[in-house]
Amino acid sequence: MAAYYVSTPIYYVNDAPHLGHAYTTVAGDVLTRWHRQRGEDVWYLTGTDEHGQKVMRTAEANGVSPQEWCDKLVEEAWKPLWQHLQIANDDFIRTTEPRHTRRVQEFVQDLYDKGEIYKGSYTGPYCVGCEEFKTPGELLEGDLCPIHKRPVEWLQEDNYFFKLSEYGPRLLEHYERHPDFIQPASARNEVVQFVKQGLQDLSISRSTFDWGVPVPWDDKHVIYVWVDALLNYVTAVGYGSDPERFERIWPANVHLVGKDILRFHAVIWPAMLMAQGLPLPGKVFANGWLMVGGEKMSKSNLTGISPHQLTDHFGVDAYRYYFLRAIPFGQDGSFSWEDFTARYTSELANDFGNLASRVAAMVGKYFGGVLPSAEGDYHIAQALAETAAEADRAIGDELDFAGGLGRIFDFVKQVNGYLSEQEPWKVAKDASPEGQARLAEILYTAAESLRAVAVLLNPVMPTTCAKLWASLGAEPHLGPLAEQRVLDAGRWGQLPAGAAVTKGEILFPRLEGQ
Ligand code: MSP
Repeated sequence: MAAYYVSTPIYYVNDAPHLGHAYTTVAGDVLTRWHRQRGEDVWYLTGTDEHGQKVMRTAEANGVSPQEWCDKLVEEAWKPLWQHLQIANDDFIRTTEPRHTRRVQEFVQDLYDKGEIYKGSYTGPYCVGCEEFKTPGELLEGDLCPIHKRPVEWLQEDNYFFKLSEYGPRLLEHYERHPDFIQPASARNEVVQFVKQGLQDLSISRSTFDWGVPVPWDDKHVIYVWVDALLNYVTAVGYGSDPERFERIWPANVHLVGKDILRFHAVIWPAMLMAQGLPLPGKVFANGWLMVGGEKMSKSNLTGISPHQLTDHFGVDAYRYYFLRAIPFGQDGSFSWEDFTARYTSELANDFGNLASRVAAMVGKYFGGVLPSAEGDYHIAQALAETAAEADRAIGDELDFAGGLGRIFDFVKQVNGYLSEQEPWKVAKDASPEGQARLAEILYTAAESLRAVAVLLNPVMPTTCAKLWASLGAEPHLGPLAEQRVLDAGRWGQLPAGAAVTKGEILFPRLEGQ
């Protein structure tokens, strides 16, 4: 079976991760957990981008070698954060690993042998923050990088060039034939316009510093950090070392990227693959930026907020939920404590958390904690089937996390509305067999709805959903939560009568200071 392969960008290790980095990594984690719960063979890759001037200079400024710097940051900051955020990546690639550097040299040597690379010289602006050759036309006044708002450097070096300019027509043809290759549509349009203007050949080596992979035929040069970095997507899955594995996993289904690195992924990367005759990825999805005060959040402008600051207060699951629910994926979005607090309280604690605790409490009180037998409400059953199908399409196919989660939470609201309408606490006073049957009907409906909600929200909030699964007594009858299929979640009547429902831990405790 071909794997469903998703990648994040590999992150520069010049600094510790901030919210912007975690945003993409959480999105990829939710997407891949969703596909695992579709029963697919999934591969989720993340890692770190360790070469280049940016990392080298940071290491120098800190008085250690670049390798020492990278080792420290990877082990002390990046990997622990992904663990903390419950990221279930299948591999973590570092570009300084020999499994990567060897293959990068082979790839570039191959292109050289094929006549795709020639020697020339580069004169022009370069932004070390972006690690990107810029054109004078795109700079802000005072020769500032438009992204970092800091002065660019002017380079004059002998470099090797890749004949990127020759790939324009083939790239345009590919975008035309695969309208979903670049998403969202705004990103696609931007790339198409850019390529239509005509492409320049790309400098693929640097010769004024040495923190990089040596060019195999000329060791006075190191390979340009972006060419080195992009290749991680193939070197990590067996390119040049394990053809069977490579065949099974490559091409990637989705490369998740921030919009600032879209061109590298939608122009340079496919051209490199074309030059080598390799299949292209299915989709490059550009997410927007998390903004603070109208600016891209970043360490360099001192607005980088650490995810720990938020998880300490709201918890990991609420953190994983919030950004995907609050910001349409693909658009920029602002973060504020007020908005996070408001959603935590109304959606997570009140709508979802209270529903779970009320239902468990009532099954406990009226039925001694044993789920009664009933068919359940037809309308709720219908709504659930639609919710599951729509959420599956939105999250699993369209990467519309906000839409899919919105749909699931509408369903949660509907179940709350049903309980308010039916008033089981009043029905409970009716001791007649009809009254008891009515009460069973209501509580079965709510508990069975929660069973499905636990399955659908598990990719987003695994710890919370595990607690709910336990409180519903579902596992002995239905098996482990992670093995429940998302599409099947909408099939009514799975939680059997007799399930032991217990009042579990509070899912979303009151926030400190509230
Ligand atoms: N190393 C390159 C990527 C190489 S991929 C072959 C790089 N690294 S980065 O650490 O600078 O950025 C990685 C990702 O984080 C980018 O996709 C970037 O868009 C994203 N973000 C950095 N700040 C961000 C926000 N404030 N908001 C959302 N994402 C942002 O580029």
